[in-house]
Amino acid sequence: MSAPATVADARLLKSCCADLWAHPGIRLLAGPALRPGGLDLTASALSRVDLPAGARVLDLGCGPGATLGHLRDRGFRAVGIDLSPGLALEAGAVAEAVVGDGERLPFADGAFGAVVMECVLSAVPDKEAAMGEVARSLGAGGTLILSDVVLEGALPAPLDSFAGWIACAAGARSVTGYLDLLEGAGLRVEGFESHDAELASLLAQVRRRIALVQGALRVGFVDPAAGGLPADLVELGQEMVGRAIDAVSSGTLGYALFVARRG
Ligand SMILES: C[S@@+](CC[C@H](N)C(=O)[O-])C[C@H]1O[C@@H](n2cnc3c(N)ncnc32)[C@H](O)[C@@H]1O
Repeated sequence: MSAPATVADARLLKSCCADLWAHPGIRLLAGPALRPGGLDLTASALSRVDLPAGARVLDLGCGPGATLGHLRDRGFRAVGIDLSPGLALEAGAVAEAVVGDGERLPFADGAFGAVVMECVLSAVPDKEAAMGEVARSLGAGGTLILSDVVLEGALPAPLDSFAGWIACAAGARSVTGYLDLLEGAGLRVEGFESHDAELASLLAQVRRRIALVQGALRVGFVDPAAGGLPADLVELGQEMVGRAIDAVSSGTLGYALFVARRG
């Protein structure tokens, strides 16, 4: 699926995306870090980067703040930004955090020694603008740690639906696409790792947890009306997860980590 055609599409995508990631059900399915690899992947990426203690680090698309807490505990001055007001507020209990859009960062040129962007860029409609903003906000020699969903080829239905877009699937680029984006923004790519296994493992966890909900609905343990959980939506979610698992197995969908530096 191609990028949204109009500004209205882009706005709708952003607002749906912010609502989706702020939904408590997502945290129930994914865990505190709303993406593959969890904090182990963050820690492993940070260990490859020579960042002095006290460095100012931006977590762009910080969600509820799992990575912010990790950055703070490692002695960095962590700052978060998220499109969702609810998530930014929650993250603010962990470290300094503001509501804002990655396409227009409210920070001075060279404000950060590093930017972390975990599973966010795929959901940003204007990726070139976001990468330009990241490069601008990094000081000379500053580092970007980017991890995201990778899409090699076309997604199977119904993952190519709007819902799939929101789920950061159809908005993803190929590995080459991400490399072009980073280089186009003046960032030199110093490291790349495939983390497809972490995506597969997260999807398997989500499938198990949705199956529990399906079981609870079937035996009447959960009242769909009270829980706001229509059984057909749960079925659709499970079908989408199943297809995503197939897409990972076939190599269409993956997850990758890029480390890049501003010259
Ligand atoms: C998959 S979640 C990842 C959250 C967090 N980075 C983590 O690793 O747990 C994607 C996050 O990006 C945020 N987001 C999406 N588009 C954004 C944008 N244009 N600017 C800032 N944040 C955005 C969402 O609100 C959501 O919190």
